[in-house]
This record gives sequence, structure tokens and C-alpha cells, in this order.
Amino acid sequence: MSLRAAALVFSLSALAAGCSRDGGDAEREPVSDEPGVETEAHWSPVPADEVRDPFTYSNYHEARVTHVELDLDVDFETKTLSGSAQLDFEKLSDDVSTLVLDANDLDIELIEAETDDGWVTVSYEIGADDAVMGSRLAIELPDGAESVRVNYSTSPDAEGIQWLSPEQTASGEHPFLFTQFQPLLARTMVPLQDTPAVRITYDARITTPPALLAVMSARQDESGERDGDYSFRMSQPIPSYLLALAVGDIQFEAISADVGVYAEDYIVSESAAEFEDTPQMVDTVEALYGPYRWGRYDLIVLPPSFPFGGMENPRLSFMTPTLIAGDKSLTNVVAHELAHSWSGNLVTNSTWRDAWLNEGFTSYVENRIMEGLYGPERAVMERSLDKQSLMRDVNEAARPELTALKMPEDISHPDEAFSQVSYAGGMFFLKFMEERFGREAFDAFLRDYFDRFAFQSITTEDFLAYFEDHLWADQPDAVTKAEIDAWVYEPGFPDTIENPQSDAFNRVESQLNAWLGGGDVAGLETGAWTTHEWLHFISVLPAEISSEQMAALDARFNLSTSQNAEIASAWYLKAIPAGYEPAFEPLDAFLMRVGRGKFIYRLYQSLADNGRREWAEAVYERARPGYHPIAQRRIDEIFGE
Ligand code: BES
Ligand code: ZN
Repeated sequence: MSLRAAALVFSLSALAAGCSRDGGDAEREPVSDEPGVETEAHWSPVPADEVRDPFTYSNYHEARVTHVELDLDVDFETKTLSGSAQLDFEKLSDDVSTLVLDANDLDIELIEAETDDGWVTVSYEIGADDAVMGSRLAIELPDGAESVRVNYSTSPDAEGIQWLSPEQTASGEHPFLFTQFQPLLARTMVPLQDTPAVRITYDARITTPPALLAVMSARQDESGERDGDYSFRMSQPIPSYLLALAVGDIQFEAISADVGVYAEDYIVSESAAEFEDTPQMVDTVEALYGPYRWGRYDLIVLPPSFPFGGMENPRLSFMTPTLIAGDKSLTNVVAHELAHSWSGNLVTNSTWRDAWLNEGFTSYVENRIMEGLYGPERAVMERSLDKQSLMRDVNEAARPELTALKMPEDISHPDEAFSQVSYAGGMFFLKFMEERFGREAFDAFLRDYFDRFAFQSITTEDFLAYFEDHLWADQPDAVTKAEIDAWVYEPGFPDTIENPQSDAFNRVESQLNAWLGGGDVAGLETGAWTTHEWLHFISVLPAEISSEQMAALDARFNLSTSQNAEIASAWYLKAIPAGYEPAFEPLDAFLMRVGRGKFIYRLYQSLADNGRREWAEAVYERARPGYHPIAQRRIDEIFGE
């Protein structure tokens, strides 16, 4: 058997054993230019049992949870989920007598373990509550136990669950709840090993008030009626951060036989229209990178307090309503969340230091979808806007180590790994590779990569070793080790980064320059500008633009009241430092209406930085109760509370 075949057999057996990644580095072929001469490989994966995720208390190297069974009742009166979570696990060595889980704000009533004599009560210990990590939950295991069951309820303040009163929903009639668990908040709903290194399958029974519908990141039992009693199964192993639940007066509209959209009634048809190209997006990725492996692909448009643009919960991406612009101009977010079905959900970062494996690959695939569906001009505009945000984030980074793709060991919170460095930085790295190796070879490589590591959690070094053994081995002269290391491990971005050139953006700049050089706003030919051109126009407005110039633009183009949330927020970010007063009333309304972090964190920060702190705090006081707990925490930090 060749070494490569041996490695494959090893990895298949590791997969069968529920191992999270291959760890078969010992089997790697030596790299050599000359036949018969063995030299060391450049990048060697750290063996899986030595990679440690610092953001979990769990002893996942000793015992590994493989399956979770939830039975939870949703109580909107007390804002709690209560019931049980049964966890099946495998001991990785015989002498393990404790199962350590993560828990955050859970009220635990009883823990049992299954033994030969049936279920018995066991003792457990809950550690101190840490603001980021929650608590260590150590469960004593009787001999032979392979399952534990925790009876518990969640806290009304659980950071991963937002409870909305009827008044906070569009209909005003029914309450709503949704979860958001990435990166560390699954432990606020379920006691589990909350690390992306561990993959679980899950079953869930969720009971709700009878008028409401529950949906999860899983297959719904289709025989069930809309009666408040719902069953789900996720039979592919996923990391804990992809568990997800939403409950509300939710309607559904099909887009195709296996794609559809859930939303509150007021927006479900608009959402289906906005996202009507989603089935073609699925076709586009499948043609590039292989089959979609999750069955259906649905979207749910959540209430406006959802703190992200989108979240890639498997089978069911969670989306912000700010994407419903009426002209499909913001659907790259759908392409992004869909792309995670390959990069992130199928092949998952093993620790948050490797977040670029999720977000950078996904941003690359997203851009390829946009190019495939709408053409290279739109894709290059999006890359150009991404490059601007990347350079901004690189400049604003708290320390240089945070500007390399592989995050440093000592990040204080996984959120530090989610700047544009991981997103656009990772995308531009893969663009660089595509350019050097040729699109055809690079696409084939990525397709094999998704296949090879499907349903596994891996590190940056696993990727690099695989790259070295395959793509690089086929074309050894295409890149140097120094080039790859500079991209992945060294702060900042090398000169080999693409400089996206958009003719449309160049024309926007000429228009702007003509106007700034003394032209009249009436002379600006903006008639056919897309959202992207507007975003570019606003972003290149000079920092010293006067209030009068802002007023002239606003009078002609109504930017302060734009219904496109991207355009409106970009405009407010210019209006605040320019002291352009007429924008403040619409900005107030925007901050009251929209809870998406990408917009509101920067806006509050800019207000605080530009002498508008008091005004901003007054708006925040009114807006805060409607914001998600994640957003509340972030904005509290801005105002130093
Ligand atoms: N997985 C992320 C959202 C996320 C990241 C949640 C980190 C919690 C912690 C999601 O796929 C994402 O990246 N969303 C982006 C949209 C995208 C087009 C850049 C967002 O929310 O803006
Ligand atoms: Zn993402």
C-alpha cells in the first residue's frame, strides 16, 4: 500500500471512530525535489490530541460527546427553556472518570448517568462563572457510563438567546425567540463541549405555545402539524456553534423544491423575491466544489435585532431583514452563508485561531458565486469594497499579531479573530493562490479539500500540509514557502495582494472629482449607479467634506433616508464627523430600527469619538431594550458602562 493510500485508510477509520480530524501527519510523504531524497515537510499539523481550544473547559481530549438529545419546553412567560439534554459520549481512554462540559448561566436541577442498572443520579460540580467562558461543569461518571442526562433550565438573561415581546415583533401579536451561538454561546442553552473541535449529531423535541412554529438547524419532522410540538434531527456531525433555534409566528414561502424562506408574515413574500436566485447559487457552488450535503437549504429572515448580517446555521441560515433592499443588491450575504455549507460547516476550524479557514474560504467562495451568477464586474466591485475594509481593519488592529491569518495563541476572546483580516484577508490569500496555480487547478484542489476533510474540524496547519502534498506538489514553482508564510503567519498583507480594478468605480471617482473640483451636483451622472457604486462613492468622499457639500448631495439623492441599510449607514458614518445636522434625525430612527452590529457598533463609536457622546447615549438608552444581548454588551463597552 502506498503511503498516500495508507493515509486515506487511516483517516477513514479515524472518521468512523468519531475523531474530529485526521491527525495522520505521521503518514505524510516527505517532500523532495529529487527522487529518493527525503526532506522534511514544510508545514506539519500538530497531532489532533495536542491541539487545545482555550475557550472550552471541556475535557474533549479525554471524553468526547458524539450525540445530543434535547427535550425542551419554551416558556415565554419566564423566558426560559427547560427540560433535559442527554449526551452520549465516548471515552478516549479507560481511566476517565469525569466528563467536563461548558455551561453558562444554566440552572441545573439534576444529572443522571446511564449504567447497567439503569439511570442513576450522579454528583457534579459547577465552577466559578467567568464573563467570557461561563462555568466548568464536571460530572462524575459511574463505571461503564456512556450517556448522561442533565435536567435544567436556561436563564432569562442567556446571552445566546434573544426573547422578544409581541410588541418587539412586526405583527405585535406573538412573542419571538432566536438563538445565536457562534462563537461561545451554545453553552447558554445546552450544557455541552462548546468547542468547534468536537462534532455532534443531535435530535430535539421542542414544545412551544401552540400558535407558534419552531425551526432549527436540522431536519424537521414533516409529519408534525403546527401544534406547538416539534421534532428535529441533525444526522450529520456539526460543531456546537451551529446548533440553532427560532420560535415565533413564522410563515414559510418556497423558492424552489428544496429552497425556501421563513419569516414573519409582513416580510415573507419580499424575502422570497429578494432571495429568488438562491437555488442558482446552490447550483453554482455545487458545480465548483461538489455536492451540497445537507438536504434542504432554507433561510429565515429574523427580526431586525438579529446582530449579524447572516449566520450559517446548517440547512437554515439566519438572516438580518436589512438585506431586503428590494433590488437584490445585498444578496452576497446569502452567497456567503450558503458557501459556509462547504467552508465552515463541512470543514470546520478546529480552534478560533483558525477562523480564517471558515471565514476566508467562505468569502472566497461567496465571491466566486457572485461572479458566476452576476459576472466579474460585480465580483470585482465587491472585492474592491472588501479591500478597503481590510485595510481599515489592518490599520485599526489593536496589535500587529491580529493582522496575520493565523491568530495568535493569546487572543482574549474569539471575536478578535473575526475582523476583515480573516474574511477579506483570507479571501485575498486564496485569490493569490488561484492566480498562481491557475483557476482550474485551484478549483479542483478546493473541491478535493472539501471532500477530504468533510465533517472534520481542522487547523491552519492541516490545510497547509494538505496544500503542500497536493496542489504545491503538482506545481512546485508556483509559489515559495516564504510567500505562503508571509500571507498566513506574518502581520499585514504582502504586495502579492490583488488590487481589484473596477472600471465602474473608476468612473464613479471621476464623477466625484469633477464635482469636488467645482462642478454642480446636477452634473453628477448617477442614474444607473448600483448600490455598490454608491457605496464606493460615499466611501471615497474626502474626510474634510463640508456640511454644505453633504447637504447638496442629500438634497439631490436623499441619502439620509436611503432605504438601503448599507448606503444609509455608510452615509451616516460620513455625516457624523462632518457635523451634518440633518442626518441626525434619520440616524436616530435607524439606530432605533436596526440592531445589526456591523452598522450600529461603528455608528455609536463614531458618535462617541466626534463629540456626540451625550446624544448617542440618549438614543442608546431608548434603543437598548430592543437590541440583542450581544449588541448590548458591545455597545455598553463603547460607553464604558
Ligand atoms: N459566521 C458569521 C457570523 C459570526 C461571526 C457570528 C463570528 C458570530 C461570530 C457569518 O457567516 C458572517 O460572516 N456574517 C457576515 C456576513 C458576510 C457577508 C461577511 C455578517 O454578519 O455581516
Ligand atoms: Zn461567515
